[in-house]
Amino acid sequence: MTVASQEDAISALEQDTPLVYDPLDPAVKSEPYPYYAELRKNSPVQWLPSLQAYGVATYDLVDKLLKDGKLFSSSMFWPALLGEFDPVPEVPPMISMDPPGHIHLRKLANKAFVPSKIKTLTDRTYEVANALIDDIVAEHGTEGEIDWATEFCALYPVTVIAQVLGVPTARRADFKIWVDNVLAAANRAAYGPERLAEIQESSDSIRKFFEELYDERAKDLQNDLISDFIQAEIDGVRMSRIEVIQMSILLLIGGVETTTNLLGTVLIELKRHPETYARVRQDPSLIPGLIEEVLRYNPPVQIIFRHAMEDTELGGVKIPKGSTVMPLLASANRDETRYPDPDTFDIDRKINSPLMSFGQGPHFCLGNNLSRMEAKSALEVAFSRFAILDPVSDDVEWLDSYFARGPHHLKTRFKIA
Ligand code: HEM
Repeated sequence: MTVASQEDAISALEQDTPLVYDPLDPAVKSEPYPYYAELRKNSPVQWLPSLQAYGVATYDLVDKLLKDGKLFSSSMFWPALLGEFDPVPEVPPMISMDPPGHIHLRKLANKAFVPSKIKTLTDRTYEVANALIDDIVAEHGTEGEIDWATEFCALYPVTVIAQVLGVPTARRADFKIWVDNVLAAANRAAYGPERLAEIQESSDSIRKFFEELYDERAKDLQNDLISDFIQAEIDGVRMSRIEVIQMSILLLIGGVETTTNLLGTVLIELKRHPETYARVRQDPSLIPGLIEEVLRYNPPVQIIFRHAMEDTELGGVKIPKGSTVMPLLASANRDETRYPDPDTFDIDRKINSPLMSFGQGPHFCLGNNLSRMEAKSALEVAFSRFAILDPVSDDVEWLDSYFARGPHHLKTRFKIA
């Protein structure tokens, strides 16, 4: 399907037929980049009837709107994403808050994510990556075929974040199911009662789990993030119990799927660029450049959401108060005015404009250092332990999503070194 839709898009471009960007169109979900290019060229701010929102495609406009949190509010982010399936509806998570509440929570949470804290977690990430590869060998032997997306990428970030939060690794499988189900609420309009009941059950379970964990830690503090949040204080104010629970769930939801997808896409881009793969294997010091280029070229979060607080105008288009506005982060990352030759995958690229992959402005991703470090450790371990790690096909089964990008499955041939 991917190959067909890529061909359709290319042939439309060749015939000069304008591509119509509809985020829900399967061809767009499969290969959105030609559509983004068309938007940047002809319609940088475009009304999208299927989502009842304005899509914003160029770097400068995305940057401008993300930095103006007053005019473009985040308050509808969580309600739009999770609707009635928000596990903690009493308080918004910080990703869905505006100043001043956002600033207060962000200051508290920042303490846990400063680079020095992240550095202390590095050894744990190597251990987690090695243990997962040991599991693969225990199950499949020293060579064969695995699903790299589900057997490594999906398990690694959830294990790291579970450990950081202070959750026993044994609960990892539950965690992954809960996060996947709660995030699936984004497509709730398309689901029937059975699937919705599953989502509700996961939402309830995740909440119950963190309520119990909070109560345990409040009595007996440990060296983990939940305990840090319980004690953290800014200007004499601490987070309430319900705020700590919401924050923990946000970290789980924000940190799991994104990094999982990044790792899956890295292997896809290496498959598509074999010379780069050979170089990175020869020289692991190229791994950070590889991660940055995958983040730019094919980022895990394609789109985020904002809400216009006043009648305004963007790129000459009138935006009425109350409209949903969708900055197309992945399109901004391919903006030719910021990144020369943007459709070329180049790990040696000198990046002069900050990537949009983690957003910009007040809500800039709190976990950006953590996810970069996690990805680096995982790839170092994978390249040293596998002599062969090679997706079997060029054809990719992408997630069925317009905002999250990563492989659904990735059948991969492997051989231990
Ligand atoms: C490659 C991996 C990741 C990507 C692509 C990513 C992407 C993003 C983006 C685009 C935003 C901005 C949302 C907005 O402006 O509305 C964001 C915010 C956030 N991310 Fe990430 N993220 C990643 C990993 C992580 C990790 C590992 C964590 C934590 C464990 C995390 C926690 C958060 C939090 C808490 C926010 C909200 C910050 C705020 O509202 O101030 N993210 N992320």
